[in-house]
Order: sequence, then structure tokens, then C-alpha cells
Amino acid sequence: MNNKILVTGGAGYIGSHTCVALHQAGYDIVVYDNLSNSSYEAVNRVSALIGQPIEFIEGDIRNAGLLREVFDKHRFFGVIHFAGLKAVGESVARPLIYYDNNVSGTINLLNVMEEYSVSNLIFSSSATVYGDPETLPINETSPRSCTNPYGQSKLTVEHILGDLAVSNDKWNLITLRYFNPVGAHPSGQIGEDPNDIPNNLMPYISQVAAGKLTKLSIFGNDYSTVDGTGVRDFIHVTDLAQGHVAALSYLKKQSSPVGFLPVNLGTGKGTSVLELVSAFIETTKQSIPYKFAARREGDIASCYASADKAKKLFGWKAKLSITDMCQDTWRWQSMNPNGYKSISEYKI
Ligand code: NAD
Ligand code: WQD
Repeated sequence: MNNKILVTGGAGYIGSHTCVALHQAGYDIVVYDNLSNSSYEAVNRVSALIGQPIEFIEGDIRNAGLLREVFDKHRFFGVIHFAGLKAVGESVARPLIYYDNNVSGTINLLNVMEEYSVSNLIFSSSATVYGDPETLPINETSPRSCTNPYGQSKLTVEHILGDLAVSNDKWNLITLRYFNPVGAHPSGQIGEDPNDIPNNLMPYISQVAAGKLTKLSIFGNDYSTVDGTGVRDFIHVTDLAQGHVAALSYLKKQSSPVGFLPVNLGTGKGTSVLELVSAFIETTKQSIPYKFAARREGDIASCYASADKAKKLFGWKAKLSITDMCQDTWRWQSMNPNGYKSISEYKI
């Protein structure tokens, strides 16, 4: 049985956690990442966690020549494709870079996969493709629309994958739409390591708790939600990682191709910004000074998944609670005050 998986973007936040889960599930992994938003230290730490070095290639998904070398060397069962850029604000300022990395990069990867007859792909999509949802919870048939280049790049790739599946029924193109990934590995060894000031809520909260940032601004307290603040479906990154393992197991069981298959990965539960802040304070006993500020442009009031399809097809369900998410985020933050620039005591 071929258990070898190419993990593009495997040095990143979700990719590193998924590498650990894949190894534990018996897969052989090869990580391909250009380290544009990650650090080689994450790869070291994953190696230490799994107790063996993982094969790492520093490379760009837009480099077809290098990808071919990797496909020449290894016979892959499939590709889990995390590589891409993900900052919404930056995508508005630098749209061409986003379309180039996320769309051209994915086309390049698909071309090489086709050349080497590798037809199994798990693609990192996002709840952002649902835009401002008309109804909640959001299921996979909800209308899709995007208002920023990042979201548009994900939606464009989804359309490309859909067209590819129609063109030839050999393809298995599972598109996982992640809701709001947070948390860190319970060991405290790997986690989210944003460059600069975080854009996302959980890393911002944890840096306020650590005293690196003085105050959290809560963007909007006049939404029509439980307490006026935005509501999101926060999902623990290790649950998300298990979702990829479950998707692969599902693929391995299929006797005929699945084509383009979009599946939400969320908990199915909405939590407000204030609820998350309170949970973090309660769990970690740290103080989080905050103030209410104007709504952030482009934000929506509420977003949470129907997680039924993942349960039905993959037998997967998120298990970890908001308390686990806060606890593990804080452990990672406390053990690595400067992210991967902190000295690790871990050795392979
Ligand atoms: P991340 O930035 O931590 O990881 C992405 C990795 O891809 C990084 O290691 C980066 O160096 C690498 N990369 C970027 N461009 C590349 C290229 N051209 N060639 C090779 N490697 C490249 O982000 P993440 O949070 O782990 O997200 C992983 C995927 O999931 C991304 O595609 C992202 O858009 C998607 N996603 C993330 C979230 C989230 O909130 N974190 C939500 C939904 C979807
Ligand atoms: C969550 C809530 C903010 C920061 C983004 C991307 C999405 C996906 C996940 C990749 C909102 C509020 C935030 C702060 C705040 N990424 N907030 N103060 O916007 O739901 O989703 O990450 O695919 O595409 O858009 O996540 O964590 O930024 O915000 O009040 O300092 O927290 O207004 O209500 P978001 P987020």
C-alpha cells in the first residue's frame, strides 16, 4: 500500500500539525515549503515530536522543475496542499502576489501531478469562500462569493478543481473548507507563529496575555449576535489535522473517483469574540485588557459550519473544546515567547 504523501506548506501552522498526525497514522511524509511564512525550526520540532527526521525540500510550488525532481524521486499516493499566502489585508495590497502563489502555484502543482499520474489531492480552502452567509449553519451547498483577493484566490482554485473533475473522472479533489483554526500541539512545541502583529484574534489575545501587546481591540460590539461581537467557529488545529487524516482514509476506501468534493471542517458551534476572551481569561488566569473599536472592514457578523458532511463521509468530528484551544494556545505562547525564534530544548 502506497502511504507516501507530499505535504506542500508543511512547515506552516496547519501543515506542521498535520505532519504529526499523518506520521502517527502511518503515513510517510515529504514536506515541500519555500519557508516564505514559516521557519525551518518548525520542521525540526515536528521531527523531534515524531522521533525521526522528516524529509524536507525547500522549494516553491511555482517551480515546476523542482517539483518534477521531487516526483521523480518519490511515488506519492497523494498531495496535501497547504502552501499559499493567507493574509486578507495583504492580499488587498498585493493581489498579484496572492493570485500568483495561490492560483498559479496550484495550477503548476496540478500540472506536475497530472504528468506523474498522481490524482489524489487534499486542498486547503476556507470558510471565506462563503462570504457573508445567508443562512447558518453554513453547509457545503451554501452560495459562494468573496470580497477580497485572498478569498477570491481560494474560490478560483475551487472552480479550477471543479472544472478538472469534470474534464476527467480520474481525479479525487477533496477541498477542505476550514473555519477558524486556533490552538497548538499539546506538547507546546509547535504552534502559530505570526510575523509581526497578528491579524487573527487568538494569537492577538495570547500576545496581550503575554504582555507583548498592551490591549486587544474588539472590532465591533453592535452586531446582531449574542453579545454584539462577531461569532466564529473556532476549531482546534489538532482536530483540523485529524480531519486531513480522516479525508485520506476516506479516499483510500473509495472504489471509484470522488471528483471535486468540498467538505467543511468546523465544530458546528459559534463562539463570540467576548466569549473567547472570557474563556481565555478563565482558563489561563491571565488578564486581557480590551476595548471596543469600530467594526473591521470586510468582517461579517457570524460564521459557523454545519459539520455533518465530514461526519457522514469521513466519520470525523471535532473533539476539543474552547478551553482546550485556550490552554494549548497559552502553553505554546508561554513556552515560546518569541515563537520559533525561542530556543527549543527539543532535539531529534
Ligand atoms: P501558514 O502560512 O502557516 O502555512 C502556509 C505555508 O505555505 C507556509 O509554511 C509558507 O512558507 C508556505 N508557502 C507559501 N507560499 C508558498 C509557495 N509558493 N511555495 C511553497 N510554499 C509556500 O498558513 P496556515 O495557517 O498553516 O494555512 C495553511 C493553508 O490553509 C493555507 O493555504 C491557508 O490559506 C489555508 N487556510 C488557513 C486558515 C487559517 O486561518 N490559518 C483558514 C482557512 C484556510
Ligand atoms: C475573528 C473575529 C474579528 C482580531 C480570518 C480570515 C479567513 C480565515 C480565518 C484563512 C472577528 C475579531 C480579530 C482582533 C477582533 N483565514 N477580532 N480583534 O476574520 O473570521 O477569518 O481567518 O482562510 O479567511 O478572514 O478571523 O481571527 O481575524 O477574526 O475583535 O484583533 O475576531 O473582528 O469577529 P476571521 P479573525
